[in-house]
Amino acid sequence: MEAAEPGAAGRTLATEAVVDLDAVAHNAAALRSAVAGGAAGGGAQLMAVVKADGYGHGIVETARAALAGGATWLGVAHVDEALRLRAAGVDAPVLAWILTPGGDLRPALEAGVDVSVAAGWALEDVVAAARATGRTARVHLEVDTGLSRGGAAPGEWPGLLDAVAKHVADGTVQVRGTWGHFASADEPELASVAAQLDAFEAALATVRAAGVDPGLRHHANSAGALFVPAARYDLVRCGIAVVGLSPAPQLASAADLGLVPAMTLRARLAHVRHVPAGAGVSYGHTFTTARASALGLVPLGYADGIPRHASSAGEVLVGGQRRRTAGRVCMDQFVVDLGDSSDAADVVAATAAAGDEVVVFGPGTAGEPTAQDWADAAGTISYEIVSRLGGRVPRRFTGTAGVPA
Ligand SMILES: Cc1ncc(COP(=O)(O)O)c(C=O)c1O
Repeated sequence: MEAAEPGAAGRTLATEAVVDLDAVAHNAAALRSAVAGGAAGGGAQLMAVVKADGYGHGIVETARAALAGGATWLGVAHVDEALRLRAAGVDAPVLAWILTPGGDLRPALEAGVDVSVAAGWALEDVVAAARATGRTARVHLEVDTGLSRGGAAPGEWPGLLDAVAKHVADGTVQVRGTWGHFASADEPELASVAAQLDAFEAALATVRAAGVDPGLRHHANSAGALFVPAARYDLVRCGIAVVGLSPAPQLASAADLGLVPAMTLRARLAHVRHVPAGAGVSYGHTFTTARASALGLVPLGYADGIPRHASSAGEVLVGGQRRRTAGRVCMDQFVVDLGDSSDAADVVAATAAAGDEVVVFGPGTAGEPTAQDWADAAGTISYEIVSRLGGRVPRRFTGTAGVPA
């Protein structure tokens, strides 16, 4: 058995997610230069979207590294996420875009957090918080350009703008941005992509007609920023590309886009056993060994974010070789078919031992699978693989980008 590595608190690390902050900074810089504009200069600013704990990578560390790489804005879903950034001393502009009626927005305003407004009730909540704190509320107006998710419907937009104009005039509200969100920027040739931009242009015209300056115009997520140049406007909101994964793997891999996946998920084999042909493996015996097999136990399961849908499909790197999960992924563990234990030439099967390192996914540069490979194995998207990584898996940060001196 290999020597165990001590964890941060001196314990043995069974699992860890290593996050390369220099990769995050690199990705932010790559995105910045991709949207920097042509010879005329200008170009869009980069908002690093760090909601959901920085897509599982650590919200504060990922935010700092992205800012070090050239992001000038941060984006989150909930006000509490923005407040977490502020509590850690991150003072860059930050936008939170999911509000619910009656929420107390005073802490957001006091912390200088911009909030999204998409309905009359949200405007009223924001104005109430502005009056209570004596601060001007900084808002980004969200219009639904065709996603039918958040955003004011086109029919509600003019009425909302009349109310906004009144509060801009009385000094309670400042409009810092106007925005929409794509349904299918990862399929840029679809008619809906152009239609959403047309709808956004019409919405911007209505803002101006109401006598309101739209502020920063933003409509692009990672796929929009990379594949729909017309959608870049003043600011692009990128999440998945900042952590180094492709928003549209069918169009371009992370490597094609010059992105470096920032997270490596590692574990150590908790057990190795040798079984004969015909052994049923894991719950429900959905996998049966076809030959004498070495089986390795990986101490990660669906409670840690390993998708159960990747049972008997997802692969890991053990002893420098790719090996596949055998049978169902359980809550805390899954089994890997290490190979043919009757074949002396199968070095992994012959030599694997408890304590050996397993790389579940990483950048892919040393032969390990990527988060995208796991997404493919589970029939999902890489976003889900990294953002669902559970709180039980310690994060360890490498690199120096954005690390406070
Ligand atoms: C409103 C909004 N903008 C931007 C993003 C970032 O998207 P992506 O990770 O595809 O760049 C998201 C994420 O889902 C989002 O909800």
